[in-house]
Amino acid sequence: MTENNTISTLQFDRHRRLRTSAVLRDLVRETHVSKDDLIMPVFVDATISGSQPIASMPGISRFGLDAVAAEIDEIVALGIKSVIVFGIPDHKDDTGSDAWSDNGIVQRGIRLIKSRHPELVVIADDCMCEYTSTGHCGIVRDGEVVNDESLDYITRIAVSQAKAGADIIAPSNAMDGYVAAIRAGLDAAGFVNTPIMSYAVKYASSFYGPFRDAADGAPQFGDRSGYQMDPANRLEALREAASDEREGADFLMVKPAMAFLDVVREVRNASDLPLVAYNVSGEYAMIKAAAANGWIDENRIVKETLTGIKRAGADLIITYFAKDVAARIDARTW
Ligand code: PBG
Repeated sequence: MTENNTISTLQFDRHRRLRTSAVLRDLVRETHVSKDDLIMPVFVDATISGSQPIASMPGISRFGLDAVAAEIDEIVALGIKSVIVFGIPDHKDDTGSDAWSDNGIVQRGIRLIKSRHPELVVIADDCMCEYTSTGHCGIVRDGEVVNDESLDYITRIAVSQAKAGADIIAPSNAMDGYVAAIRAGLDAAGFVNTPIMSYAVKYASSFYGPFRDAADGAPQFGDRSGYQMDPANRLEALREAASDEREGADFLMVKPAMAFLDVVREVRNASDLPLVAYNVSGEYAMIKAAAANGWIDENRIVKETLTGIKRAGADLIITYFAKDVAARIDARTW
């Protein structure tokens, strides 16, 4: 007796009809991850020549100025269209001067990358924590990170990065008013067409741990909860996103991604701007560590994770997996 005959009198929906073959499942799939969605982070290090692997981020390295070209060539050959550049300077001071110097490590890195690959979209992370002796993202006075004075520096950094050839400025220092300040600074310097990708919703997260090893940017006292957001807050995320949109942001970002997919969705629903999610260092490290132990299937977990981030509403994903994903798309094993 067939299944149909046995229960033909029951009323219910047959969702499994659309799952009966791989091709049919392909046809009805709602969310896709493509190379166009991926932004690969790159660390340029003024203190080394060649490259140096980052222990807590297997597969990711810092690159000296003599070695970064080869890494970028690889990224471009894989068909990735955008990178976000972070710098490790050879000296730190109170104002993070290497961050806003025209000869700073990131400015030199950007000039090198753009001269080699003018078509690659180079995003510059605009922050101070890798460059200040305090390890904080702004200027410290009497043990406090002061907001308005820090805006002057974050704006200077943006202008010097744009001068070096950055295509997009991505401020991540979490001061209030940075989008307004940077927009005014860029416009005054003639960079009216340089977009701002704001880390609008940036949580004070423990998931940044491996990045702080990689970029040597851990705070020397206290933590960042006086300027980054409390992970418990959702309505505040909408207020942050709305402020940055009003101030003239061209892209909004939510960071981290995996523990904050509800926030990605809410910001997606509240704004029409292109939305970026940052799949941060700790999220990468957890997957790599579990996979190295044979506890999870890395390829499948990465696909499920990045698909989930897109399904939540992100248009673009900054991810340390970008090169791996592009290679798997080429090999038809994605
Ligand atoms: C700030 C910055 C950080 C990250 C990106 N930009 C560190 C922080 O806010 O402490 C973290 C990214 C990651 O964990 O992958 N310069």
